[in-house]
Formats: sequence, C-alpha cells, structure tokens
Amino acid sequence: MKFEIAKTCLYFHLDRNEIINHMNINPMIMDSIKSVLANSNNIVFLTGAGISEESGIPTFRGPAGLWKTYDPMKLASISGFYKNPKLVWEFYQDRQNLILNCQPNAGHFTIAKIEKLKNSNVLTQNIDGLHKKAGSKNIVELHGNILKAKCTNCNFVEDINKVIIKSLPPMCSLCDSVLRPDIVFFGEPLNQTTWKNAQDISTNCDIMFIIGTSLNVGPVNTLPFYAKENGAILVEVNPEPTVFNHIMDFSFRGKAGEILPTFLAYFNTK
Ligand code: APR
Ligand code: ZN
Repeated sequence: MKFEIAKTCLYFHLDRNEIINHMNINPMIMDSIKSVLANSNNIVFLTGAGISEESGIPTFRGPAGLWKTYDPMKLASISGFYKNPKLVWEFYQDRQNLILNCQPNAGHFTIAKIEKLKNSNVLTQNIDGLHKKAGSKNIVELHGNILKAKCTNCNFVEDINKVIIKSLPPMCSLCDSVLRPDIVFFGEPLNQTTWKNAQDISTNCDIMFIIGTSLNVGPVNTLPFYAKENGAILVEVNPEPTVFNHIMDFSFRGKAGEILPTFLAYFNTK
C-alpha cells in the first residue's frame, strides 16, 4: 500500500493523503518525498501563524489562539477600526512590541536556506516580518506588515519606528488624517497586485508546502487549489489537520521548526 503511494508520487499523480508522523516516517514514504523534493524546481511555501508559534507569537485559532480571548470583529476588522481606532491601535501596539522582540525559528531559517538552493517563493499570511528576518528574499506578504503604518487618506507609508506617535491613533504627517497599521483587516480585499502575483506563483509551482495555517481564511485558502489544479504536489506541515486536509498529498503532523529542517538535505540531492 505504502509502496504504491511512493511509486505514484514519483509520477506526480498522488490522489490520496498520506499522514506521516515525523517521528516515525515510513522509509518508503520518505524515499518518495526525497524524490519529489530533489526533482522540484519551483517551490512555494504558503505559511500562516503556526510557523511563528515556536518564535513565541500566538496563533489566531485553536485553544490558545488570540481570537479565543479577543474579538476579531472589534480589533481586526475595517468596521471595528473606524468605530474605535484607538482601541485597535492599542491592540496592534501590544502585538508590535511582542513581534519586535521575537526571532525567526528553525522553520523560517530552513525556508531561507532552501531559497539559496532552488527557485522558491514564500507566500505568507503573517504580518510579523520573520521570513525576511530569517533571510528569505522572495516573499509575498498577503496580509501586509504590522511593523508599518499607512495613511487612511493619502499614500503615506512608513516603518512604525519612524512614525511620531503623540497619542493614539497616530496622525499622518502629510495630511493629518488617521494612520492605520499596514495590514489587511477583515472585510477588506487584498492588494490586487499582490494577490495576482500570489495566484501566478501558485499556479506555476511544482510543489507547495502549506505550513502552519488552518486554511480558514479566504482568499488565501484557495491558493493550494491553484497549485493542485496545475499539477503541483501539496505537502502540509501542521500538528493538526486543516480544513482542506483531504486535498493534500502528504501531511506531516508536527511542528514546523522540527519537520522542515528534516527536508533540507533532500533539496540538494538531484
Ligand atoms: N508548526 C506548524 N503549525 C502549527 C504550529 C507549529 N509549531 N503551532 C500551531 N500550528 C498550526 C495550528 O494547528 C493551526 O492549524 O497553525 C495553524 C494556525 O492557524 P490560524 O491561527 O488560523 O492562523 P492562520 O491560518 O495563519 O490565520 C489566517 O486569519 O485572523 C486572520 O489575518 C489573520 O493571517 C491570519 C489569518
Ligand atoms: Zn496622509
């Protein structure tokens, strides 16, 4: 049974999901993964909050998720922001302070190392900037960046540490309108150029790693379908099953910082 999966894997026709506990990976399966990785030329890492969990940044959903304690409609929606920008800024300032003190972990670093070996792109929902801090260059920040502020009225965008904040909400130094975090709130569309780029990158990849995202949030959760429909292999790395678990070719159940480094050697073996 497992041999069959390994064989079909070589021909990129997996039609079933093999769940793999990384502590006990069947050698046959590992061989097929090795072959897929060694033959991949165009890799996408689609990442979510879970990859930064080992850096000390809480995820959104799940038992210890932020949205268990905080109301996303009040704190992370565009209507919530206009209703009470001060409250939203207080929430984001706390998160900025946490994130500024966090460092990338082995998951981020492995992705950055793979970029040096193979053509690859990071499509991230994270706003924490940790992929960049780890050394990745090809990064699409689908939900913006918490360490930047932008004007609600003009084109002003600035690093948060360069913005003069007298009180909350901070005001634009060019037009005196309210500034906002440079992120995508619930109820807002993604930047259309960014989104088109992410669609193209997903459509053209031959393997997509889906790491640390519950795939609950659209439109980003459709990107694995763009990849799959164009023949890519989908590899999920997550301690828990995701809502689209059934479309994955391989699922590694474990932490990104433990699983991803085990893949590194195989990218080099062609
Ligand atoms: N390694 C890998 N995955 C992990 C780890 C870890 N160490 N720890 C937790 N996870 C997994 C969880 O099992 C879960 O499936 O990470 C996932 C985190 O899911 P969410 O909290 O829903 O985060 P994400 O998918 O990134 O959320 C998408 O929702 O609130 C919005 O804008 C926010 O970008 C965010 C979007
Ligand atoms: Zn302005």
